Amino acid sequence: MDRLDKILGDAGIGSRKDCEKLVRRGYVTVNGEVVRTASLKVADSDVVAVDGEVVPRHRDVVCIMNKVAGLVTSTEDGRNRTVMEHLPQDMQVQKVLPVGRLDKDTEGLLVFSNQGDLIHRLISPKHEVPKVYYVEHEGDVTSTEVEKAFSGIALKDGSVCRSADLMRIAEGRSLILIRQGMYHQVKRMYAAMGLHVNYLKRVQIGSLVLGDLAPGEVRELLESEIALLSDKDARIVFTSADDPVYSQSPAFQQFLKLTEVERESDSEMEDV
Ligand code: URA
Repeated sequence: MDRLDKILGDAGIGSRKDCEKLVRRGYVTVNGEVVRTASLKVADSDVVAVDGEVVPRHRDVVCIMNKVAGLVTSTEDGRNRTVMEHLPQDMQVQKVLPVGRLDKDTEGLLVFSNQGDLIHRLISPKHEVPKVYYVEHEGDVTSTEVEKAFSGIALKDGSVCRSADLMRIAEGRSLILIRQGMYHQVKRMYAAMGLHVNYLKRVQIGSLVLGDLAPGEVRELLESEIALLSDKDARIVFTSADDPVYSQSPAFQQFLKLTEVERESDSEMEDV
């Protein structure tokens, strides 16, 4: 149960005073009946409308976006489009905030929520949950890099990273699970191993995987999925090297096109 003026205020209808006026003047209905008392307690299931328009009710929300490159992870930015502007209106109304950050050129799994305690749990260094990134890079990952990542990579500024799990997918393609969130951490870890990162995409947080969410799409998480987000013992969930989650990068798409042309010309040769 919430007060009517609070519900209207939370929905961004106006200040408490403005909302009080709207109620007194008879613009507001609850379940179709005009009400004139702004302090009226309204149940979660009641339908509140202003001038016939249903008012969205505040609720606890956790949603994920498959972020595309070019969006900055901040609430405001004078020059670039932000992830907030990319959110559908019904999520913006719920006043969700991004949980942690991805670089402008990084793609993939980004969580949003309006639950302060969940946000804190997911980003505080004390609770930091594992995060997995798909990386396309110059050079190759060998057992030397896997061991280096496991024993803690020293970055160029002298800080030493927590143990990370590194897994080679193919030449120039790998997955890394990190257990903290330092600035540009993955790019700096790869740079310290002499591997320049060309493309980065977050594919897993805790044991929640990005799955088949299309680039740029947003969806709400189920209760059972929210629990997966804070799995501290998560390991890399690997499907197959051809999983679309790893193959949406421009470079990989280009590679697929080239191999397709090769395959086509091979089969033409066979026909001759
Ligand atoms: N590490 C990076 O270098 N960039 C990101 O966006 C996330 C992790």
